[in-house]
Order: sequence, then C-alpha cells, then structure tokens
Amino acid sequence: MTEAKSVAVIGSLNIDYFTRVESLPAPGETVCSDSLDIFRGGKGANQAIAASRQGSEIIFIGTVGNDEHGKKYLKELAKEGIDTSHIETVKGSTGTAFITVDRSGENMIVISSGANSTLTREQVKAKTKQISSAGAVLGQFEVPLPAIVEGARIANQNEVPVIINPSPVEKTFPWQEIRTDYLLVNEHEAGEVLGFNPWDEELSLVRQRLHELRVENLIVTRGGDDTLVYNRGDEVISIPTLAVLPIDTVGAGDAFAGCFAARIASGEKLEDALAAANCAGALTTLGAGAQNPVPDRERVDQHLEHLSQSS
Ligand code: RIB
Repeated sequence: MTEAKSVAVIGSLNIDYFTRVESLPAPGETVCSDSLDIFRGGKGANQAIAASRQGSEIIFIGTVGNDEHGKKYLKELAKEGIDTSHIETVKGSTGTAFITVDRSGENMIVISSGANSTLTREQVKAKTKQISSAGAVLGQFEVPLPAIVEGARIANQNEVPVIINPSPVEKTFPWQEIRTDYLLVNEHEAGEVLGFNPWDEELSLVRQRLHELRVENLIVTRGGDDTLVYNRGDEVISIPTLAVLPIDTVGAGDAFAGCFAARIASGEKLEDALAAANCAGALTTLGAGAQNPVPDRERVDQHLEHLSQSS
C-alpha cells in the first residue's frame, strides 16, 4: 500500500498564445497563420496539474501578475483542486508564451517571463514547513534559479526526493550545491547538461559525470521511443512508452514530469512511476494545449493495464 504525499512544485505560470504555420519562420522572415488559440500553460503549472490529476495534493510556489490573466489563472487552478495560497500576486503581467508549431509538429517558443521572474529564494524559504513534509519537490527553469536551489536545499535536508526538469536549459545552474534525485531531460537537454550524449559514451563516463553533478538518476525521454535511466546500476534501464499518433506535443514533457513526481511522492518504484509517466506524456499529445489533454490517474492506469496484458 502506498502513502499519498504532496508534491511541492516551484515553477512558472504562463498564458500560451498558440499558432500553427506551414513552416517555422527563418530569422528576419514573416509567415502568416490563420489560427490562434489561447491556453493556460507554463511548465510549473502544467506539471502541477499533471501531478494533481494523478491524485497528489499540490503545494504550488509561484507568482502571477495582478492582471486579468493572473486572477483568472488562480480561479482555474482552484477548480482543479490546487491550493493557490502559496502563489503570490505581484504588480505587472502574468508570464506569456508565444508558441508556433509547424506542419511536422516542430515548435518554437518565446517566453516573456513577466511575474515568473520575480519569484525569490526568500519566498521559497518561507515555505520550508510545506516542502519538508512533501513527498517530492519538482522544479523547472522558467523561474529564477535561486528559488529552485533553495527548494532543493530544503528538500535535501529533509530527505524529500528532488526532481529537476532543467527546461529551458540554463548553463549556470549550480548542480554541485544540491543533490538531484531525479533529473528529467529530453535528448537535447541531456547533451546540454552533461556536455555529451550519454548514449554515445561508456556507462562508466556517464556515471562519473552524474557523480560530479550530484545526480542520482538521469531520466531521458525520447518522444515515441523508450525512456532511458542512467544511475549507479550496471545497466541502462529502458522503459517502453505508449504508441500514439501525436497531434500536439507541447506539454507532453510536463505531463510526464508531473505524473512521475506524483507517483514517486506516493512511494511507487522507479520503473512503475516511469511507465505511468510515459503513458501520461503520450496521452497528452492527443489533444491541443498543454493542460486540457493531461490524463487523470484512472485513464493512465487503464492504459498501463492494457500495456501489461499485451506484453
Ligand atoms: O512545456 C510547455 C510550456 O512551455 C508551455 O505551456 C509554455 O508556457 C512554456 O512554458
């Protein structure tokens, strides 16, 4: 029997302006689109919603602007059952993301950080009690890095698992200052953080690099291919994912991260948490926007059952 514990998410909230084009513009080029959708997004909020739909109680530490977007966002999160009392409202605009997706699903994202850029180390420190009693702490890099470092430091001191999704990658992150229990990256991010592609090198070299970065488990998602885990074990662990025909991949990595955090927080084994996270990520690609298509626990479990019956 597993114990449901909360997930503390330290991260961003954005309003996503989403448009589709035939081909992404080259520098200096203008392209026209006949579509515009406005969704709620931001890696922090997307991951918080994904964890909440897996049944976790969420402690969300973030900031919105005192504009209409910010007010509406808090109401919508509350409807999801997410406690918004740790989200501060500051003067100015809520974060905004401009997302352009081409015919092949390739995307370009520009973020205007707005209120996200005001999250401080002190704000996180003020939540020491909540972080210390959480089942996992989950952070990304769309908010100032000192806030993430502080959350991880508190978690480390209290033996709470730290999950970092270093997106967008920030070269100056002080990895040595904290212990990262689970580092969630896509293939591109893996190369950026390690300085080389782990699948191109001897396992001993990968392990040495993880040791230097104080990372216990490196988890590499690879779209429709198996997710890989590099850790102290003698072999790379490979976890299959669900075969789907994606229509929109924006937010799939966030659904993976949120589901994974929820499952780890409730005490699931690494392999089981990853199988569930793979399903959540894949199912999220079947709808538009980064939050609406995120599946709940029941739906993920149904797919896991089908997978186990067909294997
Ligand atoms: O990962 C997808 C998210 O990245 C979008 O929701 C957008 O807001 C950007 O943060």
